[in-house]
Amino acid sequence: MPEFTEITDRLRAAGCVFAEDEARLIVETATGPDERAAMVERRAAGLPLEHVLGWAEFGGVRVIVEPGVFVPRRRTEFLLEQALELTDGEAPVVVDLCCGSGALGAAFAAARADADVHAADLDPAATACARRNLPPDRVHTGDLFAPLPAALRGHVDVLLSNVPYVPTSDIALLPAEARDHEARVALDGGTDGLAVLRRVAAEAAAWLAPAGHLFFETSERQAQAAVAAVTAHGLTARTAECDDLAATVLIASRPT
Ligand SMILES: C[S@@+](CC[C@H](N)C(=O)[O-])C[C@H]1O[C@@H](n2cnc3c(N)ncnc32)[C@H](O)[C@@H]1O
Repeated sequence: MPEFTEITDRLRAAGCVFAEDEARLIVETATGPDERAAMVERRAAGLPLEHVLGWAEFGGVRVIVEPGVFVPRRRTEFLLEQALELTDGEAPVVVDLCCGSGALGAAFAAARADADVHAADLDPAATACARRNLPPDRVHTGDLFAPLPAALRGHVDVLLSNVPYVPTSDIALLPAEARDHEARVALDGGTDGLAVLRRVAAEAAAWLAPAGHLFFETSERQAQAAVAAVTAHGLTARTAECDDLAATVLIASRPT
């Protein structure tokens, strides 16, 4: 069984900047010495820490993250905060679209126990993972809105939509952890990064309740074009920024 300092040294030698913190998390998570040693080697080989651990902290919740599934980013907690702040009614109907692990939906549900949370994703690996973080019967597999129960149409109060938004030509510039260990469909937003956002925007008004809100994560550079894409479909829109998390969120609303 490698000792803590040996683990730290091994991780540091492999290029892990936060070797001590990572070693601590691995030691806490592993159920025995064999698993601990295997986890250290997987991390040293370049797997994202969250895939090695099998979980990520997001919005105060420990979310299960399976291999190949998008690792929820701390930056996306800003989207969650914005959504929680704007949700004032009781028992809100919430959809986590392009849910990945279901991190947004699970954290929203943890903060608002009265919420009726559904989630959907195209990638069966993502929805299999999301079914471990959310009630399984609330997680649907398919393209954007297509797999959602028809009864939700026109009744969604909160549409959480962290879609892929990296322009195709920028994928090569992403860290290897993302490029090599997250599904391409989770990252690639098409030529300008807004292809999926535009498709969501085109259908959103039909699914939102009157005065319902839609939340996208975007980049500062894409924000103006993203707002135009959303307002073209009859929604009002504004952006909010968080410098600490380097996050930009587009908040769109269906007029009453
Ligand atoms: C950037 S990841 C975000 C995952 C999750 N919302 C989060 O914040 O951790 C984007 C997700 O969108 C999903 N996706 C991409 N295209 C999709 C589509 N056409 N329909 C449904 N899901 C899609 C991917 O499988 C991936 O899980």
